[in-house]
Amino acid sequence: MANPIKGLVLAGGTGTRLRPITHTSAKQLVPLANKPILFYGLESLAKAGVKDVAMIVGDTREEVMTAVGDGSKFGLNVTYIHQEKPLGLAHCVQMAQRVLGDSDFIMYLGDNFIRDGVEEFVESFANRSDGTNAQILLAKVPDPQRFGVATLDAVGDVVSLVEKPTVPESDLALVGVYLFDSAIHEAVHSISPSARGELEITDAIQWLITNGKKVRSHIVDGYWKDLGEPEALLEGNRLVLESIERNISGDVDDLSTLDGRVVLEPGASVVRSIIRGPAIIGQNTVIKDSFIGPFTSVAAGCVIESSEVEHSIILNGSRITNIHRLEGSIIGKSAVVAKTERRPLATRLVVGDHSRIDLV
Ligand code: DAU
Repeated sequence: MANPIKGLVLAGGTGTRLRPITHTSAKQLVPLANKPILFYGLESLAKAGVKDVAMIVGDTREEVMTAVGDGSKFGLNVTYIHQEKPLGLAHCVQMAQRVLGDSDFIMYLGDNFIRDGVEEFVESFANRSDGTNAQILLAKVPDPQRFGVATLDAVGDVVSLVEKPTVPESDLALVGVYLFDSAIHEAVHSISPSARGELEITDAIQWLITNGKKVRSHIVDGYWKDLGEPEALLEGNRLVLESIERNISGDVDDLSTLDGRVVLEPGASVVRSIIRGPAIIGQNTVIKDSFIGPFTSVAAGCVIESSEVEHSIILNGSRITNIHRLEGSIIGKSAVVAKTERRPLATRLVVGDHSRIDLV
């Protein structure tokens, strides 16, 4: 290979507060199975043989740069590019051109998750002999109007691409992973901002098609991106937990049972409890006299005592005590959820912005 494929990772955008995880302002750092979503992308790039990565950062750059560092923990060499305003995905390509040079590159949106990684796509693009200029990934989604949407012809070639159409012509959404050769640089300089005021990568790829360049597509399964709704976040967490392997590093006493695919991170301890996988328990978390049901992620430094928790996400440093059953719940960082004996017996709440509480 003359030129190894480089990476362009987009982790910018404004620091809009993400409901319901209000403590986290960088959406790319929201955890799925105790790991920031962005890390899955970086790991899959490294696995695909990418070494040099340009990463676009914006308002939340401190948080992102602290988490990722120089990239060496992923086996990557990360160069940061500060984008002052989120002017669009094609604008990010313009900004990165100096770092990318004429190399082929994979552009990866930091808030997208692809279960099976990107190895296969990178390899097929790197070894192509048919002059393909861009390769896009598509996924069937129930709500295509929220994505870029592709229309294919009878043999599967891309005919057109439209960004967030009101009336989608297909249910094939553009996944946030794209492979480009240097032809994209002319394209991103040839388009104009869209109705939402952004330079759309979708329009740049449409420009490639219109100008006779070769754009290939591939349909993937196991695609997820949706952090807006609590149910969607639980769904993403479930998707990741579905493929974890059992790995017990913490302490388990004789009176506890760990069923199936359970990950117990170092320093975690389980006392007189049952954990039924798939589930992950973070570093130094204590589970005592409790039941943790399937599809639950408990982050680091939590205490769960005399409680039952299932299909939920509990973030760092939270404490749950004497709760008969918590299900389909997302608990933010350092939160306390406890049943009280204190008189007068009443529900006492300190609830953050945009929270939702369903009481029984
Ligand atoms: O997620 C897939 C979708 O991503 C595609 O189907 C769409 O065609 C594509 O336009 C894009 O749509 P979104 O509107 O969902 O993109 P969003 O603005 O959320 O940005 C995606 C990521 O890129 C996010 O991690 C923030 C980052 N970003 C975004 C913009 C606009 C930047 O770093 N800089 C930017 O200027």
